[in-house]
Amino acid sequence: MTELNEQYVDSLYGQDEDLERVKAGIAAQGMRDISVADGYGRLLTMLATLSKAKDALEIGALGGYSGICLARGLQSGGKLVSLELLQSYADLARKHMNEAGLGDSVEYRVGDAKASLAQLKEEGRTFDFFFIDADKEGYPVYLDYAIALARPGAVIVGDNILLRGRTINTAKEGPAVRAVRSFNEAIARDERLLSTVLPGYDGLAIAIVK
Ligand code: SAH
Ligand code: DHB
Ligand code: MG
Repeated sequence: MTELNEQYVDSLYGQDEDLERVKAGIAAQGMRDISVADGYGRLLTMLATLSKAKDALEIGALGGYSGICLARGLQSGGKLVSLELLQSYADLARKHMNEAGLGDSVEYRVGDAKASLAQLKEEGRTFDFFFIDADKEGYPVYLDYAIALARPGAVIVGDNILLRGRTINTAKEGPAVRAVRSFNEAIARDERLLSTVLPGYDGLAIAIVK
């Protein structure tokens, strides 16, 4: 039922050339397409626009789908810093950003996001938008860094907080599941945040740093 509703909502929208190119590029590399859901990609563009974000930080680039969505919502002259573990993925994402005409607005930093985040903190960088979407074990640490690097009023979004059913499956106790549960509890309870969690698709957490 939920899936049919999602399919219906998705069917209202026409094809998006830039995002179709990302999907085709990911398939051509034989990579699994775990780009953010179309409806949440649109929400990223809307939230970036509504929050008048100038500097955004993405954790997990893959093929550049969410990068395009984020960059589209940035103020003119705005910049996206995108953290990606694998050089080949960052290269593919860069290619798709260039093809979408957004190449000037993105900087990739390759390697474990935890090291890149420590480096950004060292550099004194701050951001007004965060999209957390890399390894699920890292989510609690990524949330701590996002809060530490946030300007007042910054938006923090986290993808896949339902882990396709594993988050609520009490038989599951692996490191990713534990980390995401702890991330979700922090999103809901941390007094520095104003938040909500959307259960559609694979779940999306949205918070504002007060
Ligand atoms: N945000 C992308 C999808 C990201 S998929 C989109 O919606 O278009 C998750 C990505 O996180 C993968 O590209 C993976 O290589 C990357 N990743 C996994 N572990 C990481 C780590 N420790 N540091 C940085 N990136 C990581
Ligand atoms: C999966 C989906 C994602 O969006 C992601 O970031 C990681 C994994 C998945 O469905 O396995
Ligand atoms: Mg994801």
